[in-house]
Amino acid sequence: MCGIVGAVSKGNKNVLEYILTGLKRLEYRGYDSSGVCMLSGDDFTTVRAVGKIKELEHKLHDTHLSSHIGIGHTRWATHGKVSEKNAHPHIVGNIALVHNGIIENYSELKDELIKKGREFQSETDTEIIAHLLDMEYQKGKDELKAILNTIKKLHGMFSLGILFKNCPNTLFAVKCGTPLVAGKSSDTSFIASDVYPLVEYAETYAFLEDYEIARIEPNDIIVYNVKGKKVEKVFNPLNITGEELSKGGYKYYMEKEIHEQPQVIVNTIQDRISASRDEIIFDDLPLSKEQLRQIKRICIVGCGTAWHAGLLGKYYIEKYARIPVEVDVASEYRYRDPVTSKDVLTIMISQSGETADTLAAGREAKKKGSFLMCICNKPNSTMNRESNYTVFTQAGPEIGVAATKSFTSQVSVLLLFALYLGDVVGKLDKKELKNILEELVKIPFQIENVLKLSDLISETASKYLKFRTFLFIGRGVHYPIALEGALKLKEITYLHAEGYASGELKHGPIALVDNDLVLIAVCPKDDLYEKSLSNIEEVSARGGSIIAIGTEGDKRLEKISDVFIPLPVVNKDLMPILEVVPIQVLALNVAVKKGTDVDKPRNLAKSVTVE
Ligand code: F6R
Repeated sequence: MCGIVGAVSKGNKNVLEYILTGLKRLEYRGYDSSGVCMLSGDDFTTVRAVGKIKELEHKLHDTHLSSHIGIGHTRWATHGKVSEKNAHPHIVGNIALVHNGIIENYSELKDELIKKGREFQSETDTEIIAHLLDMEYQKGKDELKAILNTIKKLHGMFSLGILFKNCPNTLFAVKCGTPLVAGKSSDTSFIASDVYPLVEYAETYAFLEDYEIARIEPNDIIVYNVKGKKVEKVFNPLNITGEELSKGGYKYYMEKEIHEQPQVIVNTIQDRISASRDEIIFDDLPLSKEQLRQIKRICIVGCGTAWHAGLLGKYYIEKYARIPVEVDVASEYRYRDPVTSKDVLTIMISQSGETADTLAAGREAKKKGSFLMCICNKPNSTMNRESNYTVFTQAGPEIGVAATKSFTSQVSVLLLFALYLGDVVGKLDKKELKNILEELVKIPFQIENVLKLSDLISETASKYLKFRTFLFIGRGVHYPIALEGALKLKEITYLHAEGYASGELKHGPIALVDNDLVLIAVCPKDDLYEKSLSNIEEVSARGGSIIAIGTEGDKRLEKISDVFIPLPVVNKDLMPILEVVPIQVLALNVAVKKGTDVDKPRNLAKSVTVE
């Protein structure tokens, strides 16, 4: 996910320091390249660099760039490879622009622009916005009108920071889909993708709403709606305490951590996918490709949520690499005298890297000669130190006891590892690899879309608060999500919840169904859809209430459910990453409404270092 910053100050105050500090604070969002554009005199000066912000700082070092107005950007590439040309800001005519989001209709717009004689310097969707804006601006030299006319043509998500050469004291900002905040001090006004860059600079701040446009001047920020009418905006004091800052403005750590998932996935996958999206990078793995080809079996061990991630890992590895995989609850594996040897790869999965059972299972496998790999979130943890190889999930600190972002980051790593193995052992077609990687890099944006369903999910939580039993079902890759859903709900709400493979319903759990039971069915449109639909109908016919998580536009599923939660259409193997999000939000909402301790549920601990 990209990050944008901008500032305009009175007199000669240089805003470059704020822009660079802001970019560093946003660097967690993605950092494949970055850039700044400052307006001084009547010209733009733009500096861009590939790599982390320190590369940009390095390039800026000798330029002595200084201006009272400028914008900056840190990029997470979606359209076009990582290169200086594709880095923002993009300049077209009198306009400099930074963008966070995705323009869905960009290829149609690009074709139209090319027909009109426009030439492009980059492969980005962002440059299209700059061209459209330039064309509109040339019509009447009215900045606000040009912006309003341009954004009407765009489909997708876009927060923008815009400079016009003719406006040396005004910065413009637009918000649609992706977050944008404006801030003020006595002599400077700011924009940023989140509130962190503003801390220590701005005294007050306000989040912009979708389709709001801000005219930002050193002493004033005027906000307009999409019709060009002024909107009253309340700026709140930015007196954020340490704890509030660490909760990121959310009431609960779990809530914050759910919302961090788009970013966490970016951070976890970005260094492992080539810029051309056709190669996966595990160049730190101390096993040669030849050694990987000798692996006869993979064994995954973990506890709780990490075990659920492991179950998805089995689907992925068996599908893409055709290597048999067993997944075991670590506490079972460690005591069953497991059969393993040097041609077996053992993978421990753990957020904390300290879970006693997982660690013991890994030690047992290593002792018997297996190569021990670990997927974990904590550098310097015991598992990291004791395994032969660690892949870190870049989830950052997870403080809420219920695992959320650690799960989606573990699943992302397992998918990448499965694809990597598939490529190495020659079972995966390059085209299929590229297609799934192209979709994977867009998943963070799809999670943002799913998070917009929070109101529907909150209403659903209120509706079913008093029910007695919650049964989660799913088939194939959706089955581990059913298990994870039941675990999330029971651990933070203390309600009775069970997760089952849909096909198991008739083998016992259907006996539970009565008017007091809620079935939460994970049932997107895929090859097993019809079978899952029949299972849902069987529960509905016996008086159970149905919450269905399915594919948007699926009228059949919507008709047979009491609540239908629509998810965007993505590759089947990426669906679990989206499906788990409404389930996490549902558990959180039920817990809040029941008044349980969301972040520290009873009897549980974040790191289970004892048996
Ligand atoms: C569930 C949860 C636990 C952990 C389990 C493993 O929300 O948090 O089930 O997933 O205790 O912990 P780690 O991943 O630290 O090994």
